[in-house]
Amino acid sequence: MLQFTDTHCHLDYHKFNADREEVIQRANAAGLIRLLVPGLHHKSSQAAVELAEKYPSVYAAVGFHPTDLEEFNPKSFDEVKELAHHPKVVAIGEIGIDYYWVKEKEARAFQREALKQQLAFAKEMHKPVIIHMREENDAWFGEASADLLTILEEWQKSLSGSLAEKPGVLHSFNGTLETAQKALALNFYLGVTGPVTYKNADKKREIIAQLPLTRLLIETDSPFLSPVPVRDKRNEPSFVLHIADKIAEIHSKSPAEIAEITTANAARLFAWGD
Ligand code: NI
Repeated sequence: MLQFTDTHCHLDYHKFNADREEVIQRANAAGLIRLLVPGLHHKSSQAAVELAEKYPSVYAAVGFHPTDLEEFNPKSFDEVKELAHHPKVVAIGEIGIDYYWVKEKEARAFQREALKQQLAFAKEMHKPVIIHMREENDAWFGEASADLLTILEEWQKSLSGSLAEKPGVLHSFNGTLETAQKALALNFYLGVTGPVTYKNADKKREIIAQLPLTRLLIETDSPFLSPVPVRDKRNEPSFVLHIADKIAEIHSKSPAEIAEITTANAARLFAWGD
């Protein structure tokens, strides 16, 4: 049976309250051997760690999402730092920049400050980061990409050892080929989500066709971003197979090869063994 990994699913989200256990069982039955649940703030990070404790296939990341910074302060950050020592916490995230939901200048500056503090902590912990990035008006390139790349470049250049070689992933990558190449040059991985399956996503598929398979991760971002042909349903980790199928088509490989490559990529980046 093929082995898949979903490196980004928000299983702590309330939309899974009624059937979380079944969702995880369905994922395991579909061949998903590991599910990574990123935190959005201190409470969600705590919930992600609790899920990782309860389910063998679940791992956690901890951090503050750029649109969830209302309660980002020294005390809540300390709570996240404490959680990061848990053996099943494999990354710091999701952290980053979002200029789609946040327009105000001071609030954007605060996002960058929170990102820098969390990157510094990831370096201290020697853990990779899961990066969220969204442009104003969902453009492919703009201030968010420019600011993010500046910050990530400075940080990556300060790293050493294995973290410099695999510093993290740009989750649900939606940028230009140029941005992708800059991220690849900084040794980042790129996450591919459901929108790659959308009818109007030819430009995205053209970009993904030019990216090395050894640097791609498949992510559902459950419960959001449901792929075709289940776009009208709540997204869940077992649907990662539809994303793998589409990447197989784009790269002229078999789904089995995509499963093997992306699961190995995730194991390399998050160092959770085989
Ligand atoms: Ni997410």
